[in-house]
Amino acid sequence: MKIKKLLKIEASDQSVTIKGWVRTKRGSKNISFIALNDGSTINNIQVVLEGNNFSEDLVKQITTGSSLIIEGILVPSKGNKQPIEVLAKKINVLGGADAEQYPLQPKKHSLEFLREKAHLRFRTNTFSAVFRLRHALTFAVHKFFNEKGFFSLHTPIITGTDAEGAGEMFQVTTLNLEDLPKNKTGNIDFTNDFFGSKTNLTVSGQLEAELGALGLGQVYTFGPTFRAENSNTSRHLSEFWMIEPELAFADLHECIDLAEEFVKYCIKYCIDHYADDLQFLNKRMSDEEAKLKKEDRSEMGLLERLQFVLENDFLRITYSEAIDILKNSKPNKKKKFKYLIDGFGADLQSEHERYLVEKKFKRPIVITDYPKEIKAFYMRINEDNKTVRAMDILFPEIGEIIGGSQREERLDKLKERMTEMDICEKELWWYLETRKFGTCQHSGFGLGFERLIMFVTGMKNIRDVIPFPRTPQNANF
Ligand code: 4AD
Ligand code: MG
Repeated sequence: MKIKKLLKIEASDQSVTIKGWVRTKRGSKNISFIALNDGSTINNIQVVLEGNNFSEDLVKQITTGSSLIIEGILVPSKGNKQPIEVLAKKINVLGGADAEQYPLQPKKHSLEFLREKAHLRFRTNTFSAVFRLRHALTFAVHKFFNEKGFFSLHTPIITGTDAEGAGEMFQVTTLNLEDLPKNKTGNIDFTNDFFGSKTNLTVSGQLEAELGALGLGQVYTFGPTFRAENSNTSRHLSEFWMIEPELAFADLHECIDLAEEFVKYCIKYCIDHYADDLQFLNKRMSDEEAKLKKEDRSEMGLLERLQFVLENDFLRITYSEAIDILKNSKPNKKKKFKYLIDGFGADLQSEHERYLVEKKFKRPIVITDYPKEIKAFYMRINEDNKTVRAMDILFPEIGEIIGGSQREERLDKLKERMTEMDICEKELWWYLETRKFGTCQHSGFGLGFERLIMFVTGMKNIRDVIPFPRTPQNANF
């Protein structure tokens, strides 16, 4: 029986079999207490070994990290720390863990240290809670869209397009890098490459999702996304997961409404179904923050923050309004920003986003209608011919969590933008076709899955919410 299920049972001498890993063992010659965990829950079950029932040799083999099968009976606990415990009758040590060599000690390990111990990360309270919540959020994403009548669409990971403009790409090739075939003009001859043309790992499934939406009506992608930028920050991964819904017949405001409902739904799902893990992480966050200087601590605890997001509307402002606020803000006037804001056109840096979200409005905000120069070619141009129907959603501590837009559905305008931005029409012929036959108003957005997990778990480094992080100079395991 899984420990999660076991802990909900009332003890009355039932026979049970449990399997798990030893978190701690204490006791004396006559009696030992084992805290056993099987990953199903943050909580351990206490197993009691009465000494004279087991050989000294066997008891010695049981150390932190070893894996056991225990047959015993479920009894009310004699201690007051837990309501029930398992009185062991038979123990099978499957895998010992040499106490001298076992890397995890009962003391607290740094997250950096644990990142190097990929095989044991999952056995810690913090990471098991994070990865159970990652699962919860994955499930909530599919559940939400299914209930809304969206169809899940698997867009390609290998793509022949490198013009989406979302970021630097990783090239995919089977050519011999030591001996590259050249054509008559001296360039690399990609007709000899595996796909007969140059290919990359995708930076976004959006363009393909648009094709799906313009037939299926409402689709969403949920897949790995790759960006070869050299950004070594606590919010960037080279391989991350993105959820990209795309809605036919919807304008920007319907798209923002959907995004807000979606994020709240996912958070609520975790609160309703994974309260134990969230409580653990709530305490963890406040313990961690107690070590910080007062001004660096968050104003709200983790659970409080999640509840706050559920209960409050996201604030919606335009880019121009945001710029005015930033321009007249204290840090701008006192030249505290690294990048000073002097007016319309400036790209918002994370210091500006954080000021707006954490200092000025103290809640999630949606910024719309950015200057066309700093946004992608496919966003619908406004009447002013200066701004586009873009939206970014910014969260406290995280910054940008969602980016989206209403799409330019008018073929002539789209082509104009592509020429302005030097994007090759020939390469995107298949995308342009959608604007020739039955084009319609449509919108979509992309949610960075790991950034959502960071928000829900309170983890401060994006490397700690993905099982095997890929970042510049690091693709271990
Ligand atoms: O803003 P981005 O680049 O938008 C797109 O890719 C659009 N095609 C989405 C769409 O409209 N369908 O990325 C969307 C989100 C960001 O808001 C951020 O949360 C996340 O993806 N993201 C990253 N997360 C982790 N590591 C990175 N390097 C990320 N780059 C973007
Ligand atoms: Mg963006």
